[in-house]
Amino acid sequence: MNTTEQALQERLKELTCLYEVSSIIVNANAELIEDTLQAIAFSIKKGFQFPTETEIEIITNIVTISTKDTLRNTISIHAEISLFNEVKGQLVAHLDSAKFETVNFLNEEQLLLDNIAMKIGNLLERLEIQKNETSLKRQMERADRLGILGEITAGIAHELNTPLANILGFAELLKDDLTPKSKQSEDVDKIIKNAIFSREVVKKLMFFACEMPQEMKSVNLVPNIKNAINLLDATFRKEQVKYIVKIEEEEMWLKADPIQLTQIIFNLLINAIYFSPVNGLVTIEAKTTANEIILKISDEGIGFTTDDLNKIFQPFFTTKPTGDGSGLGLSVVHGIVASHKGEITAENNINKGAIFTVILPK
Ligand SMILES: Nc1ncnc2c1ncn2[C@@H]1O[C@H](COP(=O)(O)OP(=O)(O)OP(=O)(O)O)[C@@H](O)[C@H]1O
Ligand SMILES: [Mg+2]
Repeated sequence: MNTTEQALQERLKELTCLYEVSSIIVNANAELIEDTLQAIAFSIKKGFQFPTETEIEIITNIVTISTKDTLRNTISIHAEISLFNEVKGQLVAHLDSAKFETVNFLNEEQLLLDNIAMKIGNLLERLEIQKNETSLKRQMERADRLGILGEITAGIAHELNTPLANILGFAELLKDDLTPKSKQSEDVDKIIKNAIFSREVVKKLMFFACEMPQEMKSVNLVPNIKNAINLLDATFRKEQVKYIVKIEEEEMWLKADPIQLTQIIFNLLINAIYFSPVNGLVTIEAKTTANEIILKISDEGIGFTTDDLNKIFQPFFTTKPTGDGSGLGLSVVHGIVASHKGEITAENNINKGAIFTVILPK
């Protein structure tokens, strides 16, 4: 075969390979990214001078795939895979070093590799954008659902308030007529206890639905945090949980409703204490930026499963045993933070435990 014919054949192989890779990319889908990259790798092999001997490896920040399980003692050429102008992976072509030398890689093969690496980068970018859009859509749907739930909840809470006050009032009257410490009196105590619990739930529901009047004023967050901690000091000690406050500034002023601010800190701290192991440490951090105040509460407890993390701000979601929690604490916090035009996020700490970050505008 003369060299012109050989060169033409190589060019044809490259073009076929490029065409194949492009069609795989067009049909790619986010869930099957590993299969897609695998298919691309096998197509690239075909574009090389020694198709059966060339092994392809695609290394990315999400997965690494290769056309052969072990790739030892090879010579190779590389191309960088970039996402949003940042190198996030590599496309590598290998040949067995016992049989080949670097000269066995053609210049055109390096160009082919560069070209496909760019295509893979574009594909991964596209999938990332898609993923972000889906998560944004989900967040908006959640906000919608929370809004509707808020309205229904406010209605129910109102309706329950009066009968609950009656149950509590009449139970207390009844108790006065009974012999103290008698069986009947103890039963009435249970009614009273449960009615109080229900009243607390209704109160939280009203908070959640933002039915409580809001009074915005200039508040210094630092004493607010210290007060909340002082009030919870006994609980910290009873549960044998330690805490540390990391605040450098003495004053952190923002426009907020002081009672609701305490509600945020309280609920987050009570959760942190509840989910902390004995001797666990709860860290309370706060700092200011030009326009915002950032409050961070982290613990060394069990953290969240991925599934739970999506639900924790939903009203009535709780993993506590029945009677221990209503699943409203974080919904209340979420509602308050939203009404202050702030943001709250939850995540797992690298080692263990949960981190809640609240960002409030000044
Ligand atoms: N610090 C934390 N560590 C681990 N999981 C947490 C933490 N805080 C909240 N959660 C999870 O989020 C759920 C919802 O919390 P939320 O405060 O809304 O309700 P609750 O604490 O279960 O009940 P309530 O606050 O009404 O007493 C919890 O049951 C738990 O599964
Ligand atoms: Mg709670």
